[in-house]
Amino acid sequence: MPETTPKGLTRLAFGGDYNPEQWPETVWQEDVRLMREAGVTMVSVGIFSWALLEPSPGAYDFGWLDRLLDLLHDDHGIRADLGTPTVAPPAWFYRAHPEALPVTADGTRYEFGSRGAICHSNADYRAAAANITTRLATRYADHPALALWHVHNEYGVPVSACYCDSCAAHFRRWLTDTYGTVDALNEAWGTAFWGQRYADFDQINPPRLTPTVGNPGQALDYKRFADATLRENFVAERDILHRLAPGIPVTTNFMTALSQCDSVDYWAWGREVDLVTNDHYLITDGRRTHVNLAMAADLTRSVAGGAPWLLLEHSTSGVNWQPHNPAKAPGQMARNSLAHVARGSEGAMFFQWRQSRRGAEKFHSSMLPHGGTDTRVWREVVELGSAVDSLRTIRGTRTRADVAVLWDWQSWWAQNLQWRPSEDHDPRERADAFYEALYDRHLTVDFAHPEADLSAYPLVVVPALYLMTEAAGNNLKEYVDNGGTLVVSYFSGIVDEHDAVHDGPYPGALRDVLGLTVEEFSPLLKDDRVRITGPDGSELTGEVWSEFVVPRGAETLWTYADGLTAGHPAVTRHRLGEGSAWYVSTRLTAQGLDAVLGLAADDARIAPCTDLPRDVEVVCRTGESGTFLFAVNHTALDTKVPLDAHGTELLTGERAAGHVSVPAGTVRVVRLDG
Ligand code: GLA
Ligand code: ZN
Repeated sequence: MPETTPKGLTRLAFGGDYNPEQWPETVWQEDVRLMREAGVTMVSVGIFSWALLEPSPGAYDFGWLDRLLDLLHDDHGIRADLGTPTVAPPAWFYRAHPEALPVTADGTRYEFGSRGAICHSNADYRAAAANITTRLATRYADHPALALWHVHNEYGVPVSACYCDSCAAHFRRWLTDTYGTVDALNEAWGTAFWGQRYADFDQINPPRLTPTVGNPGQALDYKRFADATLRENFVAERDILHRLAPGIPVTTNFMTALSQCDSVDYWAWGREVDLVTNDHYLITDGRRTHVNLAMAADLTRSVAGGAPWLLLEHSTSGVNWQPHNPAKAPGQMARNSLAHVARGSEGAMFFQWRQSRRGAEKFHSSMLPHGGTDTRVWREVVELGSAVDSLRTIRGTRTRADVAVLWDWQSWWAQNLQWRPSEDHDPRERADAFYEALYDRHLTVDFAHPEADLSAYPLVVVPALYLMTEAAGNNLKEYVDNGGTLVVSYFSGIVDEHDAVHDGPYPGALRDVLGLTVEEFSPLLKDDRVRITGPDGSELTGEVWSEFVVPRGAETLWTYADGLTAGHPAVTRHRLGEGSAWYVSTRLTAQGLDAVLGLAADDARIAPCTDLPRDVEVVCRTGESGTFLFAVNHTALDTKVPLDAHGTELLTGERAAGHVSVPAGTVRVVRLDG
């Protein structure tokens, strides 16, 4: 079994990406001195260093990296998360192998001069990546600084799929392995439609630019193929590292909840890494950033199967790549960091240690800003370093969740193809909205794959899973039969794994468990609303979507009061076996989601949390070293979080009994007695 925690790291991870190659070596001395001052325990190095390590083909210069690792370790006890630099092949490589540059669907080849310009099917790239990885592993396997391998960087961005000829050949091999015969492929893709039938695998190309909408089965399989190809390259590097440097865990940094990066299936990736690590940046689009942060952390923990994971990158303050990049408010950085720790992270790392003077990211915040140590950010970094250190006993504990939300990247790939009933329905929007509604009920969420064992959860929510296999449908039926409470949002369970509509009425995968059929979808025009009314006279609002629902065993709770579907059921409940299955056939606003989830939570016998203000999070980590209650106050008011036990607050050292006081904008962590 490979190791799953950074070797030799006895505290929580605190530090960041360190790019000393951007600075003269004299600066390194100051860096490590200040790292010590800030309580840095680990840094990520070498991620973009290929051009320095192998300045020309087959000529290596490891001297600087030797000196750097020695400096970190010998004099300062700082652990190294060592990158394989394979996300940034050198200029000489592309001169020799221009066809390793990726090609877009319309046939444009990218140029060298940024990063991540890689065709992952390219044999020369694969050989060169394996070679530099082998050299690094051979040289540093026994280096005392080495704690963790950091393979590549953020697979899936900036290029998730390449459409070149080598990818076409590779795709055909992948299809042959997947389908065996071209007839099976024709059936799965429905190529009888528009005369798209293939007589041989040789006739198949990537889904390149077509005059109108291409075959959805082909497009969906290309997503799977591209994801699998990235993973092949990760696994190739990982296996070299395992072989040459046994005992050192291998990771690659994910971006689990970033909607701009939905091109990789992190359920599959989570099984391949030794330690799940994640990068998270606040998306400043006007929504509550701390809710998205909590969701990212919960999703990352879920991808790790509940095991501890590590926040490998976030920012001390503003980033540089969004339309507007506000600074973080005083205290916000620490609150962000500790909110990740509450949800399972074994530390808090940043991009990056020292702010660059040159290059594309010079306006991205860092631990050590352009302004140096006489700055607010630096003072907060030093403070956070000591706060993180005082939490070291939580290592290895696990976050406890109350409910599960189903999540499936493959379903989104299918849903987001063209020619759907409404372009305003965005499955990710529903996932965010349901998560937010659960967050506001102070419930901690695990995410789960639709075919996972759900028996541990009293409540399971399906925000929008258009693609759902028959196996997933059966899984949900069994879950409800055995006493679970299920809440399903509209346009779920419609197609199978090939984007073919399940046989019979909608929603094919779910009609038994929901006790209903949907005769027709009736999406709303932009800005249209429908009113839905409940038995108690309550009125809720639907947007974007409505449906003609026909109950076949389910009871109607809310009914459409206007619009084309007036008089038809809008929200239903089906009592089945020991449990119940709710269906919501329109896009409810926050108020409606809260109302429906409140009733479903009653069915699930989840007691409502009435004593916590909005935007005060309470999350528990528990394990051999004890139970730790994290209280995160995102509000501008001081608050008191009730405790039904005694304990010690770890950041202040104060005793807590009956409640813990959490000043505005801060975090408190109580280790409960006993
Ligand atoms: C990503 C990358 C880093 C850096 C940061 C900036 O997460 O991994 O190299 O570009 O974004 O936010
Ligand atoms: Zn390619």
